[in-house]
Amino acid sequence: MASALVILAEGAEEMETIIAVDVMRRGEINVTLAGLSGVDPVKCSRGVVIVPDTSLEKALAGGTTYNVVVLPGGNGGAKAMAESEKVKEILQNQEKAGRTIAAVCAAPIVLAKHDIAKGSSVTSHPAVKDTLVKDYKYSEERVVKDGNIITSRGPGTSFEFALKIVETLQGKDKADSLVPPMLVKL
Ligand SMILES: *[C@@H]1O[C@H](CO)[C@@H](O)[C@H](O)[C@H]1NC(C)=O
Repeated sequence: MASALVILAEGAEEMETIIAVDVMRRGEINVTLAGLSGVDPVKCSRGVVIVPDTSLEKALAGGTTYNVVVLPGGNGGAKAMAESEKVKEILQNQEKAGRTIAAVCAAPIVLAKHDIAKGSSVTSHPAVKDTLVKDYKYSEERVVKDGNIITSRGPGTSFEFALKIVETLQGKDKADSLVPPMLVKL
């Protein structure tokens, strides 16, 4: 079964987190929502509290790998992931193995901080564009896929972002089949 690791840090954008998890599960991806600092409930950017499935440490136990690593945005969450040596190691291993990394909103700054896929085409929330323009080809498309890197812009692009992940792992027919039952307008 295709698998996804979603990293949940304090200050994550709750819509971006939940929409990614929900849409990927609809797309029959085995999603693990892992708390960066453990198993405790995580307070998100607008005060919604989300309980992770497990800790990041446990999610990686025994050398478990995932077809995609997903980084939700939110300034606080993105900063925490940018400062994490553990996240750096996960992303560098993911890149080396040629597996997918997906980052939305402020989270592309995590890629920049950890030296991932420099030179690729990416997008992000407009507020962090300046952090990315010198090391990446910056795009203002709502979702950008370049090689194994998928990026997107904010809460309002979360469905497109998640559907692109499903398309990448499960094929376009599967991704397209999720749109009518969710009544998503693309
Ligand atoms: C889903 O992922 C979890 C955690 O890695 C694993 O224990 C479980 O066996 C997986 N389920 C399937 C159906 O692949």
